[in-house]
Amino acid sequence: MIILGIESSCDETAVAVLKSPKEILSNIVASQDEIHARFGGVVPELASRRHMEMVVPLLEQALREANVSLKDIDGIVATRAPGLIGSILVGLSFAKALAYANKKPFFGVNHLEGHLNAAHIEHENIPYPHIGLVVSGGHTSLYLVKEFGKYKMLGATRDDAAGEAYDKVAKLLGLGYPGGPIIDRIAKSGNPKAFKFSLPRFSTGASVFEIGEYDFSFSGLKTAVMLQFKKISGKGTISSDTVADIAASFQHTVVEIICRQIIRAATEKKCKAVIISGGVAANSALRARLIDACNENGIKLFLPSMKYCTDNAAMIAYVGARYLEMGKVSDLSIPAIANEEIGV
Ligand code: KG4
Ligand code: ZN
Repeated sequence: MIILGIESSCDETAVAVLKSPKEILSNIVASQDEIHARFGGVVPELASRRHMEMVVPLLEQALREANVSLKDIDGIVATRAPGLIGSILVGLSFAKALAYANKKPFFGVNHLEGHLNAAHIEHENIPYPHIGLVVSGGHTSLYLVKEFGKYKMLGATRDDAAGEAYDKVAKLLGLGYPGGPIIDRIAKSGNPKAFKFSLPRFSTGASVFEIGEYDFSFSGLKTAVMLQFKKISGKGTISSDTVADIAASFQHTVVEIICRQIIRAATEKKCKAVIISGGVAANSALRARLIDACNENGIKLFLPSMKYCTDNAAMIAYVGARYLEMGKVSDLSIPAIANEEIGV
């Protein structure tokens, strides 16, 4: 089966062609970072308009690179939820129209399910059950993955997503947008122990505020970084070395928060494997720390490469292909949905 996948849920327009089960014939992503950078975050209306401009040329490029034409395509799939409603509508409506006009089966994919399965593209036989973390600009959610299509959400962020915290802290430090990759780079020259930011406390201990066992919280950390920054900047100009120290200390804390929850969940749920995905899963410190922590605990870690961590259409094509091969198709009347969790 040759499947065409389209992803447009946030600020990346992406088109991929996959030969099932998982040979990626093309995987094109057009980032909109330069459009949103001066606003310090994604502007939904601008994102939808850009998707409209990009989706046709990207489809042409993806088909060309895959060396196939529309008549060779056996199924068309697209992200239908969750994300920015106007953005999803562009890719979803385009995919439906293509499927209708070319008489191809169509399937609408949940973006989170795409992230949760991204690791399968490059890894064979990931054991079930495993722990899956989606950690991006919009989500920080931990799942018990029982088998393909069977997810149980164990916990999620109570406030900011990890990527959102990265973007907000980068803005505060005057580093630009998107903040994750910039902080990742700058933190390499900083001291992660320079500033001590405390971890959120969990309901099992005496707590200032209580959050669920497998939940996350990043807004307290963001505020602590802001207060620290104000304290130092009140004394004069902040050197680039100090900015690097703040970035490294912030990142160190984010990595600790995420890593502890993953290891705890894997241990308590008796899972021998962990996968992570989403933009923040591209973070070099998180990847390095998780490799060590999983090794120490006898857990197998399956990391997608960077291009499958951040938003892409290959993961959507992979999930759509699996459903289409099970004989499942979506009706062309299915709506775009802004908020739709899985495994709840
Ligand atoms: O998965 P993604 O591409 O889009 C969403 O579905 O949200 O994730 C984007 C988020 C942004 O917040 C960005 O700052 C963050 O992922 N990000 C990173 C890195 N690369 C992207 N965060 C930390 N380190 C990175 N290397
Ligand atoms: Zn995403």
